[in-house]
Amino acid sequence: MKLKILVGTVTHTAEFTAQAMQLGCIEWADPIEVILMHEAPAEVWDEPDTLYLICTSTYGMGDVPDNAWPLLNDLQTQSASLVHVRYGVFGLGDHASHAPTFCFAADVFDRALAARGAQRLGDIHRHDASGDTPSEDAGIAWCSQWLQTHAPQAESSGNTRA
Ligand SMILES: Cc1cc2nc3c(=O)[nH]c(=O)nc-3n(C[C@H](O)[C@H](O)[C@H](O)COP(=O)(O)O)c2cc1C
Repeated sequence: MKLKILVGTVTHTAEFTAQAMQLGCIEWADPIEVILMHEAPAEVWDEPDTLYLICTSTYGMGDVPDNAWPLLNDLQTQSASLVHVRYGVFGLGDHASHAPTFCFAADVFDRALAARGAQRLGDIHRHDASGDTPSEDAGIAWCSQWLQTHAPQAESSGNTRA
């Protein structure tokens, strides 16, 4: 099973976190590709035998990062079914300074994908930058557990595009 990590970021924390996941989780998904959202091709959702992971920070008043807008806009304006897409969400935010909009971008992407018929596997993870655990460590721990739980299930059920 392949994994594509789609990264929304401003100051690269989410990108470094995705790269840590890429190195730390190869035992459970291969290959793992890290794609900055603004570089994602239009056909990114059409890969066979692939799980997707949204890894995004939150900015402004609970907005997605600037580099995430094109992908989000495509998700919200196009209508082709994404019923074959299985995805997880790892959000990055700061609860101490932005409690009312903590990790909102994670929910924005979740709603956009669900509206197109995609199915989230597992709960949304919300990493708090004001906590004690570096996002890279939290990312590897969460992603490895997420893959071990869901990759075999997605593979055996043929849920992703064959
Ligand atoms: C100007 C600014 C606005 C932010 N707004 C939010 C927010 O609304 N909600 C939230 O949870 N975190 C917010 N954050 C925290 C970032 O999402 C957090 O620091 C994250 O780890 C940054 O990841 P990045 O380097 O990948 O962009 C904000 C940070 C800055 C500097």
